Amino acid sequence: MSSTIAELEKKRSAARAGGGQKRIDAQHAKGKLTARERLDVLLDEGSFEEIDMFVEHNCVDFGMADQIIPGDGVVTGSGTINGRLVFVFSQDFTVFGGSLSERHAQKICKVMDMAMKVGAPVIGLNDSGGARIQEGVASLGGYAEVFQRNVLASGVVPQLSLIMGPCAGGAVYSPAMTDFIFMVKDSSYMFVTGPDVVKTVTNEVVTQEALGGAVTHTTKTSVADNAFDNDIDALLAARDFIDFLPLSNREPVPERPTADAWDRIEDSLDTLIPASANQPYDMHELIRKVVDEGDFFETQPGHAANIVTGFGRIEGRTVGIVANQPMVLAGVLDINSSKKAARFVRFCDAFDIPIVTFVDVPGFLPGTAQEHNGIIKHGAKLLFAYAEATVPKITVITRKAYGGAYDVMASKHLRGDLNYAWPTAEIAVMGAKGAVEIIFRGRTPEEIAERTAEYEARFANPFVAASKGFIDEVIQPHSTRRRIALGLRKLRGKSLENPWKKHDNIPL
Ligand code: HXC
Repeated sequence: MSSTIAELEKKRSAARAGGGQKRIDAQHAKGKLTARERLDVLLDEGSFEEIDMFVEHNCVDFGMADQIIPGDGVVTGSGTINGRLVFVFSQDFTVFGGSLSERHAQKICKVMDMAMKVGAPVIGLNDSGGARIQEGVASLGGYAEVFQRNVLASGVVPQLSLIMGPCAGGAVYSPAMTDFIFMVKDSSYMFVTGPDVVKTVTNEVVTQEALGGAVTHTTKTSVADNAFDNDIDALLAARDFIDFLPLSNREPVPERPTADAWDRIEDSLDTLIPASANQPYDMHELIRKVVDEGDFFETQPGHAANIVTGFGRIEGRTVGIVANQPMVLAGVLDINSSKKAARFVRFCDAFDIPIVTFVDVPGFLPGTAQEHNGIIKHGAKLLFAYAEATVPKITVITRKAYGGAYDVMASKHLRGDLNYAWPTAEIAVMGAKGAVEIIFRGRTPEEIAERTAEYEARFANPFVAASKGFIDEVIQPHSTRRRIALGLRKLRGKSLENPWKKHDNIPL
């Protein structure tokens, strides 16, 4: 008996050794943790329960029959993050470069299937040379099996990808279909074709980092959400992040105790809006002063910063926050900000996370660049997302809410549940000067100035909208947190369903 137990321990040690010490040292020399070290940081201490540790590949070509490493390049199983269940897979670059074989794919599919059955998030730690070259089409089939599950799991359980090494070729499409992607600077990259192919086909010379590194994907492309300096920062951030999310679309948002009073008054908000309408202020200040303990996890901070998206908590319960940012492009809506916020709103709606929207928007960005790149279609994404969302929606207009952008930003007309405005709100078709120059074209400068003042007096306030019931209440800025907390309390029982359909047809 004791010898069989010893045999098991021997087999386990062999599996844990992955591709061997030399390759582990090489991994460390690149500043990267190994697959198992990463899981140790990500999960609560001692909570990881591995499955499929002894799975082996089934390839006999190219001498592979003699190269068997138990586990086959991916560590899979489940564990907890602050006591809450998650399913994980962590690709082991020390074993065949973390490349994906048929069996490696089956291991990933098994944890994804389990996660969907029981209703818990899937976190994938990606570090892979792509398809296992020796296996050919069997590997491609494996990828497609994973892709299919990414799609079926979308909106059922949260899916988070951490890119912690190479992720190239068709392999990028699995993370691309998950809800959020975190990347590590200087050691991770994602591209469909790498620098060598790019050089051959287009004659462009580009580094891996510039082509598809963390900075590129979190600023230019928005493929990834957040970039971190190293593996540990990324993994610890993932722990914080998962704390905000429900386990599945069948579970309510998590609730955690808070010492922050729900009715905390923030007098400093009464002076947040500058005297001049053209002067910016930082929307982050409002967000941090409203959410519990100032704790806000921003998604995509480096991309389309004219809109802010992220998660906070009110009375310990998660809310999704969307806010125009007057500090960047005056908070205007453009193609990138519309796409960024639309995807965020749809995530919140899929997982029953209430949405709080702070509005200070001068309209949509004019120009041929925007029009010719499809602002009509892309702007419609955000409109569509807000309009279809059935979760509790609370909107606070702090200053400008002009034109179509007023409608888009969770207005009453798009089934906003509680629409508040600060006394500083200006809800109008457009800014006073622009409006007067159109309707009084050709008049003297004096008359234009006079009419502008008249237009401002008439429309640069929240009361016209309030008189029509488009704004439920004009509130004091200092009581914004209290109002939102009360609103969320009463909306907990909200029940609203869209008409039956197979699925909608959002303008993609
Ligand atoms: C099998 C692989 C492999 C792969 C790497 N290895 N990639 N084995 N299949 N795809 C092995 C290497 O043989 C080596 O084994 C070990 O992993 C480490 O690789 P190195 O090249 O030494 O490491 P490094 O210099 O860091 O370079 C990493 C790399 C490079 C950039 C990922 O290995 C590389 O270019 N690999 C090929 C990438 C690729 O073309 N993949 C297919 C993409 S197409 P030893 O034994 O020496 O340690 C694709 C299609 C998916 O993925 C389609 C889905 C629809």
